[in-house]
Amino acid sequence: MITVIGLDGGPLPPQAARALSAAVCVAGAPRHLEAAGAHIAGGAERVAMGELGAALDAVVGAGGPAAVLASGDPGFFGVLRSLRARGADPEVVPAATSAATAFARIGLPWDDAVVVSAHGRTGSGRGVRRALAAALAHPKAAVLTAPGRAGPGAFLPELLRAGRRVYVAQRLGAPDEEVAALAPGDEVGERIWADPNVVVAVDPERAVAPAMAWMPGHQGAPPDWALPAESFEHRASLITKPEVRALALARLAPRPGTVVWDVGAGSGSVAVECARFGARAVAFERTSEDCERIRLNAHAHGVDVEVHEGEAAAAVDAAAARLPPDAAFIGGGDDAVASAVVAHRPERVVAALASLDRIAPLYDMLAAAGYAPDGTQLQASRLSGLPNGSLRLAAANPVTLLWGTRAASA
Ligand SMILES: C[S@@+](CC[C@H](N)C(=O)[O-])C[C@H]1O[C@@H](n2cnc3c(N)ncnc32)[C@H](O)[C@@H]1O
Repeated sequence: MITVIGLDGGPLPPQAARALSAAVCVAGAPRHLEAAGAHIAGGAERVAMGELGAALDAVVGAGGPAAVLASGDPGFFGVLRSLRARGADPEVVPAATSAATAFARIGLPWDDAVVVSAHGRTGSGRGVRRALAAALAHPKAAVLTAPGRAGPGAFLPELLRAGRRVYVAQRLGAPDEEVAALAPGDEVGERIWADPNVVVAVDPERAVAPAMAWMPGHQGAPPDWALPAESFEHRASLITKPEVRALALARLAPRPGTVVWDVGAGSGSVAVECARFGARAVAFERTSEDCERIRLNAHAHGVDVEVHEGEAAAAVDAAAARLPPDAAFIGGGDDAVASAVVAHRPERVVAALASLDRIAPLYDMLAAAGYAPDGTQLQASRLSGLPNGSLRLAAANPVTLLWGTRAASA
């Protein structure tokens, strides 16, 4: 029998203490072996976890009762998955997960929080990027960090820049536990943080959702999407029409953990809808007046959209250096703008074109950049009432939607 025991700094429950004293083999991180050392039988083999696989193999093949020590709840981003993968059917004695403890220290409910792990496997930075995108898109988030490149330094600058209050909950349950509170404007520089730690980010205006949540994290697809043009403030009908927006959203695939650009955003309707789907939305527009309108539209829909003012070709370069896009919608701008967007290699590019002249060049540009281009012309005729009470079809201008996808890098 294998018993997996979670530790959170509190006293060991009797079931855990009994399992530990009976174990012939106990595996755990050195700090956990030390913390529970008094309960481990003298003759038991102690396997200090460095390489997880070898330690778990030792436990599974122990030939007698064995125990694994883990942090918090072993069933939450923990060792239980790897043990199960080895065919083990362990007993679990959980402790409080570090995310719960972090929110408890701050005194906030967390049933409305999104909890993400930055423990990426590939080392490509994708784990960090998607955790950051999810944390930026949600008003309340906890990030399980990893030492090194996925530590607090990878998250704090962007979260603070987005106006979040940020907490770094370090070594929870240990005698040297510390929770640092940071606010926008605080200098974090090269500060060293103690491992392990959890980063909590909270939008101060939405720190406590008014109604009790029923499901933690993002709530999935919004109740309505492809919203009517009247749902947005817009200038001179410069707005992607709902029929076109519906297909654009389908091709952009906005969801938690993704960054979606809306380039030449106009009203920002695409950015706002992407944010409603849980993506980190970034909008680009030329004038301060248009940018302000996008912010108002985002606010009216209860989402946060990062807005960049200026010439799109230069603005996207600056934004990509901080948080590269997973998907990009090109609603405005010329071929130079499209080329600047494609240069940042989003997995998905979607463009809405009114001008026929631009279709072939952009199609070719996508193909040359390694995308599989595709497209369709959309011509909607909407039902509209006539004065006599009957219905007619009111034609909207045709629009060509082009899109391209490329294989995701690891
Ligand atoms: C692989 S996850 C394991 C999570 C664990 N199962 C739990 O429920 O907390 C490891 C991450 O959890 C967080 N963590 C675990 N123990 C912690 C502690 N004592 N203090 C702060 N964060 C902790 C850190 O973000 C760490 O990198």
